[in-house]
Amino acid sequence: MTAAVAAAFAALRAHHSRAGARDIAALFARDPMRFERRHARLGDLLFDYSKHDVDDAAIALLTGLARAAGLEARRDALFAGEAVNNTEGRAALHMALRNLSGHPMRAGGIDVMDGVLAGRAAVSAFAEGVRGGRLRGSTGAAFTDIVNIGIGGSDLGPAMAARALSPFVQKGLRAHFVSNVDGADIADTLAGIDPARALFIISSKTFTTQETMANAAAARAYVVGALGEAAVPDHFAAVSTKPGLAAKFGVRADRVFGFEDWVGGRYSMWGPIGLALAIAIGPLHFREFLQGGFDADEHFRHAPLEANIPALMGLLGVWHRNVCGRGAHAVIPYDQRLARFPAYLQQLDMESNGKSVTRGGAPAAGATAPVIWGEPGTNGQHAFFQLLHQGTDIIPVDFLVAAEPVDADAHHHNLLVANCFAQSEAMMRGRSLVEVKALLAAQGLPAEAIAALAPHKVFQGGRPSSTFLHRALTPRALGRLVALYEHKVFVQSVIWDINPFDQWGVELGKELCNALTPAVIDPAMPLDGLEPATAGLVAARRALMNP
Ligand code: F6P
Repeated sequence: MTAAVAAAFAALRAHHSRAGARDIAALFARDPMRFERRHARLGDLLFDYSKHDVDDAAIALLTGLARAAGLEARRDALFAGEAVNNTEGRAALHMALRNLSGHPMRAGGIDVMDGVLAGRAAVSAFAEGVRGGRLRGSTGAAFTDIVNIGIGGSDLGPAMAARALSPFVQKGLRAHFVSNVDGADIADTLAGIDPARALFIISSKTFTTQETMANAAAARAYVVGALGEAAVPDHFAAVSTKPGLAAKFGVRADRVFGFEDWVGGRYSMWGPIGLALAIAIGPLHFREFLQGGFDADEHFRHAPLEANIPALMGLLGVWHRNVCGRGAHAVIPYDQRLARFPAYLQQLDMESNGKSVTRGGAPAAGATAPVIWGEPGTNGQHAFFQLLHQGTDIIPVDFLVAAEPVDADAHHHNLLVANCFAQSEAMMRGRSLVEVKALLAAQGLPAEAIAALAPHKVFQGGRPSSTFLHRALTPRALGRLVALYEHKVFVQSVIWDINPFDQWGVELGKELCNALTPAVIDPAMPLDGLEPATAGLVAARRALMNP
């Protein structure tokens, strides 16, 4: 940590301890313009951050911290295609996939846009071919079921978006996403489709991921069993940075969609990894999705930090994590079709910033990524909101809601919006002991009952949240949201001086799994070379299989 960043953090902590626990409702009472002054806009999106326990001085200290950490220069290096992913020696230029400016973008000094545009055109042409029935299965039947086989970044983004944008999916087309190596995942999917009408897309940046390769082999065997070996080229496509491996699998060269290694897995849905989504919603809607991402890029690059949504999102997260010691962050979309958005963000945020060492390899100076979790509202209200309102941990929340439904009933939507706004108010305002006692007295309860019950009905309040309010969940609105969160993750990585673009933390488990698999498969294999803790589990499992 540089001296300037250390000083900025010290100033923030000093401010926090002077101000103590901030009463958000009191901040509103003192400043009638607080809502107006503490929101930012991008297109029809309103980012309301008025309900955080930060006053003007805290915001000034946070933007000062960002400047001390060199956020603007690091952002410019990201967009300039410098090797910001320093442990893998490459750029992180996923923004090129949604660059609609007509201007070059460079990775390591070389313009990548010709390749990006060619890839985009190939995806669009293939998507149109499938949607229009020009491309068909081996029996001549048009495709009705698109099955994406991938995991992590090769699954979560397209799966989340296909669900979010389901009203935009072409009638008669269904997109399925198979990820888990649990055979139930592919078996359940295959049980519901007609092989003659199924197109399988094997999505894997490396084309070596165990889960994806196992599921791809199962899908291949299924197609061969139902339609014969000769049908394979008609029923498979692949997306990978390793076209040679896809060809070996039996995918026709003109159905292998490549991309470059400067696209990280969890940042890849904007390019060919979005193929299943592009087929489902069509190239025009897919372009709208890219437009939303591009809008967010332009905003992140050019808006001053004080009005810059990803910068504010990231800095408020730093306040909660590093200044107030809050270890979790909830994302609650009041939108059933965003049901997979929290899971998508878990990979984006926790695989990026779940790190303990700085870019230079020294121990990180403080806490890094919080636990990201969530579920759609209103369902969450009837499950875990109890803890958000009265639990011992303060968990900041992102509430997401649309002004209008895309195609749902207006009355339902009014109820949904009212619930969303009411929950953030309840978290902020709380209900004091005095208020509770007055309410119980008004209900006619005797003094003894009031004394016993009142503490249970107190809401501490002062619980922070942001609200993201946009007009409707269109492709463009979704693209904007996703890219804003991507940049928020980047902002935090800069403050914490960590590399958000590698993921070495997933390697050890993979290695151990590979080493362990023979003993799991072969019940006769001796267990003496294994960790005793693991040997015990393998033996117990063997015993259960042979009672
Ligand atoms: O194991 C983690 C990971 O490498 C993710 O980063 C990635 O998105 C996922 O696995 C899938 O990788 P691939 O696209 O190479 O199959």
